Amino acid sequence: MGPSGSGKSTFINMISTMDYPTDGQVYIQGRNVMNMSANEIGHFRYENLGFIFQNFNLLDTHTIYENIALPLTLAKADPKLIEDKVTDIAKKLNIDMLLNKLPLECSGGQRQRTAIARALINDPGIIVADEPTGNLDSENSEELMELFEKMNRESGATIVMVTHDSYVASFTSRLIFIRDGAISTEITREGMDQDEYFQKIVSISSAGRSRRKRA
Ligand SMILES: Nc1ncnc2c1ncn2[C@@H]1O[C@H](COP(=O)(O)OP(=O)(O)OP(=O)(O)O)[C@@H](O)[C@H]1O
Ligand SMILES: [Mg+2]
Repeated sequence: MGPSGSGKSTFINMISTMDYPTDGQVYIQGRNVMNMSANEIGHFRYENLGFIFQNFNLLDTHTIYENIALPLTLAKADPKLIEDKVTDIAKKLNIDMLLNKLPLECSGGQRQRTAIARALINDPGIIVADEPTGNLDSENSEELMELFEKMNRESGATIVMVTHDSYVASFTSRLIFIRDGAISTEITREGMDQDEYFQKIVSISSAGRSRRKRA
């Protein structure tokens, strides 16, 4: 979490190998991504990472089906496997009736869920999500957090997420606040129930806001 312009998307882009730091190093699962070739990074992404971008990054000339299938198509997976996986994840995210539509024929929330389906389709070990609930209503946001919790619990996936929403943040186990491109505060949920954790997040966020007002 952190104010607009504090560097959240920049951080997410670095750890997802979309952008490179001018200073410092990025290690993922013990590997320095700066030392990987473009080809190795490509493979590494398809095998380990799922992305949900702030602006969805869907391909407008491709159907919802093709967008969701993209990571598997790029990995040259078997067409039958692709079909099964797309159908399955689309059902889970309630977009299975939209598979033949283009992104521009769908609502913001439906496009968001398409981006989520695409990120989850190859069962990635790490899911990197920039404001994944930004265009979802509270019911869909809660459902997405429950899906993330399930993936974390059952497949051991790590979810790295940016959010402005304290309630969404209260589903995490560890929370880092960023200010002016640096870590300002770090907390963990340890020992707290979700409501206590939520209250703590709200108080840290609002302390940050009043400090900005005084400045
Ligand atoms: N490629 C880039 N090169 C140089 N500066 C950049 C680049 N991308 C972003 N910035 C700058 O870095 C700062 C952090 O931007 P970033 O997009 O990471 O913020 P953010 O925390 O994600 O904000 P928001 O909540 O509005 O999405 C901003 O001042 C931005 O203008
Ligand atoms: Mg951002």
